[in-house]
Amino acid sequence: MQQGLTLSRHTSEYAGTDKLRLAVAAAIDAIAGASIEISELIGRGPLAGITGEAQGSSNADGDVQKDLDVRCDEMIIAGLKKIPFAALASEESETLVLGDPDAPISVAFDPLDGSSNIDTNMTVGTIFSIVPNKPGEPPFSAPGHCQLAAGFVVYGPQTSLVLSVGNGVDIFTLDRRDRTYKCIREQVQIPEHTAEFAINASNHRHWEQPVRDFVEECLAGADGPRSKDFNMRWIGSLVAEAYRILTRGGVFLYPGDSRPGYGDGRLRLLYECHPMAYIIEQAGGGASTGRERVLDLAAKSIHQRAPLIMGSVDKVQRIEVLHNDPAAANITAPLFGHRGLFRV
Ligand code: AHG
Ligand code: MN
Ligand code: MN
Repeated sequence: MQQGLTLSRHTSEYAGTDKLRLAVAAAIDAIAGASIEISELIGRGPLAGITGEAQGSSNADGDVQKDLDVRCDEMIIAGLKKIPFAALASEESETLVLGDPDAPISVAFDPLDGSSNIDTNMTVGTIFSIVPNKPGEPPFSAPGHCQLAAGFVVYGPQTSLVLSVGNGVDIFTLDRRDRTYKCIREQVQIPEHTAEFAINASNHRHWEQPVRDFVEECLAGADGPRSKDFNMRWIGSLVAEAYRILTRGGVFLYPGDSRPGYGDGRLRLLYECHPMAYIIEQAGGGASTGRERVLDLAAKSIHQRAPLIMGSVDKVQRIEVLHNDPAAANITAPLFGHRGLFRV
C-alpha cells in the first residue's frame, strides 16, 4: 500500500465485488465518517458544550454515562443506519439495535473509550468489531477469531484510525485539510523486546498472585529475574495504550481482580477485548486472559467482561506461564516476590 493512500481507496480495493467484503467496507467507511465528526466535536470540547459531565444515567455495565458517550453513540449509530447490518451492540445501549436479519454483518462498538479522560483533555477513542451474521445463530455468539475486521480511532494530537481486515494492521491519519484518512503506516508489527508495562497499580492489593509476580519481576529491574529495568504507563484509555504498544511494544494488563464485579476485570469482551485482541494478534502480538487466548472466547451476553493482557508476545507468554504454572515465579525469581527471600 503506498503511503498517503486514502482509507476509502483501501477499503474499496479490499472489497472488490465480494458481497460480504462490500458490507464490511461499508461499515468501516460509515464508522470512519462518524469518527471525523466526533474528532471535530471533541476538538471543540467546551466550545461545543462538551464538558465530560455525567448525564445522570448509567450504561448496562453500570458505568456513569458522560455527555460525550451519548453523543458519540448517537453519531455512530446514525452512520451505521445508512448501511446493511443485522445487529449493533454498543457499550452505551443496554440491548441490541436490530436491523435486517438477512444482512451479512453485525457491528459491536465502544463509541467513546476512555470517558474518564474527557474533562482532562486527554486522549480518548472509538473501538469497533465487525462480525459475520449467520442466519439462525444469535448475533455476537461466535468466538473472537471469527471477526471479519476490527479497528479503533484515537482522538489524540492526531486523529488516527487503526484497522485490520485480516491481512495485517494499517494506520491512517486524518488529514484535516480535506477530511480524509491517509495511510501513514502499513503492516504494523509490534516490537518484540521492550521494557514497558501498563497496569492500574492502585489495584495491587486486589490482584491474583500471578499478576503480582509479573509486576514484581518488572519492578525488580536489572538486578531482578528479567535482568532489565522497566518503565510503567497507565493512561486510562485503552485505545491510547494499544496505539503505544503498536508503536513501541510493551504489555497492557487489565486482569480480573478481587473487587466485587471485577472478577473478569473491567473491559468488555465484544467491543473492547475482541477487537483489540484481533488488532494486536494481526500485528504479531499476543492477547490473553492470562489463562487463555482472548480470540477463543465467545460472549454469553453482550456486555460480558473479560480480563485483557495484550502486547509483545514474550511478555504475554510470561504472564500466561505465571498463571498456568505458579511455581514458575519461584524458579526465576528466587530472591524476589512474596515467596522469595526479599519482598520488593
Ligand atoms: P470506557 O471509557 O469505554 O468505559 O473505557 C475505559 C476503560 C479503558 O479505556 C481503560 O483502559 C480502563 O477503562 C481504565 O480503567 P480504570 O479507570 O479502572 O483504570
Ligand atoms: Mn472503553
Ligand atoms: Mn466507552
